[in-house]
This record gives sequence, C-alpha cells and structure tokens, in this order.
Amino acid sequence: MARRIFVAGNWKMHKGPAQADALATALKAALVDVVTVDVAVAPPSISIPAVSARLKHTGVHVAAQNLHQAVGGAFTGELAGEMLRESGCSYVIVGHSERRHVFGEDDATINAKVHAAFRAGLLPILCVGETLDQRQSGNAESVVTGQLASGLAGLAADQVASVTVAYEPVWAIGTGHTATPAQAQSMHATIREWLAGNFPAFVARQLRIQYGGSVKPHNAASLLSQPDIDGALVGGASLDAESFVSIIKAGAN
Ligand code: PGA
Repeated sequence: MARRIFVAGNWKMHKGPAQADALATALKAALVDVVTVDVAVAPPSISIPAVSARLKHTGVHVAAQNLHQAVGGAFTGELAGEMLRESGCSYVIVGHSERRHVFGEDDATINAKVHAAFRAGLLPILCVGETLDQRQSGNAESVVTGQLASGLAGLAADQVASVTVAYEPVWAIGTGHTATPAQAQSMHATIREWLAGNFPAFVARQLRIQYGGSVKPHNAASLLSQPDIDGALVGGASLDAESFVSIIKAGAN
C-alpha cells in the first residue's frame, strides 16, 4: 500500500493573524479539489486560532512549530501541547534545525517534546538532518540515525508509525541549495532501513518521511516521485498560496 503524500508548510516567524488568515483563505479556495494529498500548515502560534477557524472542515491540518514538554507551569513564554490542541492543532513540528541550532535544543529535550506531543494528542513531525560539515566529513547517515534513535526513544511501535520524519539537511534550508532527488532518496532509504532494523516491519512501511530544504514548485515533482520521499516540509515557498499549492499538486500527480 502506497503511503499518501503529506505536504506541510512551515511559516516560521512570518504572518500575524490578519496575514495568516488571508493566506489560509487563499489555500482553502485553491485546495477544494485536491483530495489525494494530506496538507498541513504551521503558522506562528499567535495566528493558530485564526488559521484553525478558517480551515475548519477543509481537511487541511494545522500544525504548531514547537511546543514545551511540560503540561503547564512556570515557563514564561512557552506553550504546552494541550493548549495547541485546544487551539485546533493536530500536528506539531519538533526539533526543527532552527530549534536545534539557534535555540540550542538537544536530543533529550526533543525526545521529551515528542512524548509531550503524543500526550497532548498531537502527531509530531520530527525533523532530522546533518550540517554541511557533517556531510563533508562523511557522517551524514550516522548523525541522522542518531537523531532518530534519540528522538524516538521510549515510544511504542504504533506511535513511531504515526510520526512523520522530516529529513532536512541543514545546508539546504533557506539556501536555495536543494538536495538532489538522488541525495534525498538515498538518505530517506537509509532512514527507512534504520526503522526496519529497530522496529516491527509495519513501522518502516507506514511512517512517512518528508524531505525539506528549498523545496520549490520547480523541483517538487522530481523529489516527490522518489520511492522513499512521502512528502515535503516547505518553508519559504509555503508563504505564497500559488507556490505552495503548486508543490501540493506536484504530489497529487
Ligand atoms: P525552506 O525551509 O523551504 O525555506 O528551505 C524548510 C524548513 O525549514 O522547513
């Protein structure tokens, strides 16, 4: 059984409530007849209620970009998974490279956040990916499988199967330097082999692996046609309805 393509847009720190609502409105209109691809958008937290209201009953999922691992408490500036769920999220991005490298999130924190997501009824999109140095020194595979091992630690097999892994080579994010379809496919195959070696067979069969890093309308089809690429996590190109929809439609073909 083929895995359904899953395309998610990470809006990062762009689009306050009014602009986010305008983009959601445009997506709602453009996606009415796209039924064969799963779609999610991840607005900044403050725009989640507006986007959730706009996209209600459309089938387009709302994701948060981050969550705190605690249920609640004295954590100034943070948001708990339960609050995100209440605001209409069904997914949450965990361990994005900007969280790892700009905000210093380590593997243990990311694992705690993955568990917190499940506890709150959110499905995690777990980001993994090597830096340019790590790739050039021949360590890309070990870095990525290490991030998977720690990120997924302690989960039940059926939980792991419902995780989306986003392979995002750090050198490809926001740089315009996309991994070639062959480079991306090769890492996705490595990820699937690692899953097959560490979990019951259904996990590697079901779990979806998105590619992220400068996915654009012109390269989406060649990436999404690779056998182990099950979707895309799109940053810059998800901020414009037309380009995001064209990436989604590349996955529908
Ligand atoms: P990009 O971002 O598409 O702008 O490279 C991808 C991401 O950070 O998820």
